[in-house]
Amino acid sequence: MDYGGNSGSDRAALEKMRRPYLEKHQVLDSSKLELQSPFELWKAWFDQASQVISEMGSPNEPNQMALATATRDGKPSLRYLLLKGHDETGFYFYTNYNSRKGKELADNPRATVCMYWPEVHRMVTIEGDVAKVDSQRSDAYFKSRPLDSQIGAAISSQSSVIASRQELESARRSLSERVTAEGAECIDRPEQWGGYRLRPDRFEFWQGQRDRLHDRLQFRRQADGAGWTCERLAP
Ligand SMILES: Cc1cc2nc3c(=O)[nH]c(=O)nc-3n(C[C@H](O)[C@H](O)[C@H](O)COP(=O)(O)O)c2cc1C
Repeated sequence: MDYGGNSGSDRAALEKMRRPYLEKHQVLDSSKLELQSPFELWKAWFDQASQVISEMGSPNEPNQMALATATRDGKPSLRYLLLKGHDETGFYFYTNYNSRKGKELADNPRATVCMYWPEVHRMVTIEGDVAKVDSQRSDAYFKSRPLDSQIGAAISSQSSVIASRQELESARRSLSERVTAEGAECIDRPEQWGGYRLRPDRFEFWQGQRDRLHDRLQFRRQADGAGWTCERLAP
């Protein structure tokens, strides 16, 4: 079947597709940056991106991130998630422990997340070990979600094959009706749903530059676990 994706004009259009990077928001003062801890630098970039995204009215969510996991034998998979917390030990996200990513993390607890903020021409990649958070933290976050989201999480065997959309909607309706009849404002967290923390051992900060000679800084956790080595990478 020819879907037109390989036509010469399509290829030429893609090869030409290149937006100019504006000068705004992109001055990277590396002399200052290299002194900061990667967590502080990440926070500064996240706050700046959030502000610009909100000022521009961009539909992007500043806390969206791609999460890469892999099977034990190295077959990778990737999807977007929302970052739901961070502290000096790591980055937190929530999902279904029996999902594809959950199974891969159980087998191979390494992951990489990538946040790209096109509004400021910045990307941060964070690699590390991943572990489940304690149940109190998962309970607290689950409770803070809107009831519809709680119900959706409870009735969805995330990543498994289902017969139809109808099946999903009917399961949601039944649980919704039960919850309404009981007059409950929230439901218990399903045990297969909860949080993970990624403890970084490498950060990469990428700053797009107008002349395309971009800036890249990597921070590697030192063997003693305490400090970080900061290095500049070729773009
Ligand atoms: C912007 C965005 C945010 C998302 N946030 C989450 C999330 O926080 N948790 C989650 O389980 N799925 C989230 N999803 C859905 C996932 O991308 C994915 O479809 C789901 O987790 C199943 O992934 P898996 O089968 O690879 O395990 C999000 C999707 C998008 C596009």
